[in-house]
Amino acid sequence: MKNSIPALTRREFTKTALLSGAAATTLGTRILAADAPARRIRTGVIGCGRVSNLYLPVLSHSPFVEVVSLCDIRPEKARQQGERFKISNTYPDIDSMLKGVPFDFLIVLTDMQEHEQLNRRGIEAGKHVWSEKPIANTLRVGQELLRMARARGVQLWGAPITVQSPQFAFMSRTLRSGALGRVAAAHAFYGHEGPNWSAFFYEKLGGSMPDLGVYNFTSLTGLLGPVKSVTAMLSIVTPERTVDDKGRIRVTEEDNAMVLMEHADGVLSHVQSGFNYFNPNGHTGENEDRHTIQITGSKGYMGLVGYDWEPLGVDLATKEKPNLTRHQTHAEGYIWQQGAVLAAESLSTGRKLLVTPEQALHVLEIITAARKSQATGRRIRLTSTFDWPLAV
Ligand SMILES: NC(=O)c1ccc[n+]([C@@H]2O[C@H](COP(=O)([O-])OP(=O)(O)OC[C@H]3O[C@@H](n4cnc5c(N)ncnc54)[C@H](O)[C@@H]3O)[C@@H](O)[C@H]2O)c1
Repeated sequence: MKNSIPALTRREFTKTALLSGAAATTLGTRILAADAPARRIRTGVIGCGRVSNLYLPVLSHSPFVEVVSLCDIRPEKARQQGERFKISNTYPDIDSMLKGVPFDFLIVLTDMQEHEQLNRRGIEAGKHVWSEKPIANTLRVGQELLRMARARGVQLWGAPITVQSPQFAFMSRTLRSGALGRVAAAHAFYGHEGPNWSAFFYEKLGGSMPDLGVYNFTSLTGLLGPVKSVTAMLSIVTPERTVDDKGRIRVTEEDNAMVLMEHADGVLSHVQSGFNYFNPNGHTGENEDRHTIQITGSKGYMGLVGYDWEPLGVDLATKEKPNLTRHQTHAEGYIWQQGAVLAAESLSTGRKLLVTPEQALHVLEIITAARKSQATGRRIRLTSTFDWPLAV
């Protein structure tokens, strides 16, 4: 891939890192330590809605990224973000974006249902792709996209990046150390009262699982390994909602999910997600003090403090030390919004990430299997897997 953008010097990076708390990550520290200018990856962002407000500040402060184009089917949104982040090339659809100013890396932040076709268009055009979740609508198509990407020599990644956090690393290492004895069971939850801006969250192929449960599926499969089978109950608790883009709508995809998973060696886990969850601690993450992931073994218990996308620590108790003790309270530069920046860093430097398309596809299969289990009343066997344990 061509890259003609001037590299950012160490001094410039120091300045931008200081300007942005979010950008002052371990990535920056590594670059400074190496004292080498970063190769910036020419990047296009498609989908200029809510989450772009969280991605674009991090992208625009990264020494590995130059955002050169924006696209949204509501062109005024792309223009607004263009003005705010000083990106002059904006487009109303993927075709004109791909014909427009050249770039190497496509970041897909649209409605969930659109990712599959946009990821395909990006790969066909020879772009590396970072996709918000889900990476595709079905495992079959997702695997086809990954094969296409490999054949064209481009990378495909998907959110979320919970496996990149230092709390995930601590939990993973603790499990492998045997501190919990024989691991038996795990539970994870994530919910809020549901987005009120866009209908797609409640329409076919939306739902709380690909929007919220996906974080827990990624964390639990990362900690406990690939899933062999899934049994689920899904329901719709609020059949009608009012959303900004379409007014009053019927909810046709689950807004309440209970998913049981069978891992290897008898380990069972459970994820619950939903759009009808009052949260006494608010939804921004920083005040969440509950254990949203709990793992129990024959000799110990471990609870993740806060959400896995914004982890605040890990509480651990064992037979030898039965009082819960808090560990790993430092974020070490991890923020959930940095996935595309990590991907750009990987493209720039060759550094491998813990987040992989194979695991994203496995998580996608868990979600589609849960839907099938609900529809049929059966336990569903999974076919996909990924390299595990992760090299944290
Ligand atoms: N909002 C958040 O806090 C948040 C956090 C994490 C992840 N996400 C994920 O980010 C994605 C987007 O969510 P959002 O909240 O930003 O939604 P949103 O409705 O605010 O934004 C989606 C944008 O995509 C545009 N779009 C839709 N189809 C398109 C197409 N074919 N081509 C170009 N533009 C298109 C829409 O016009 C809209 O502006 C979802 O996958 C969601 O799960 C959102």
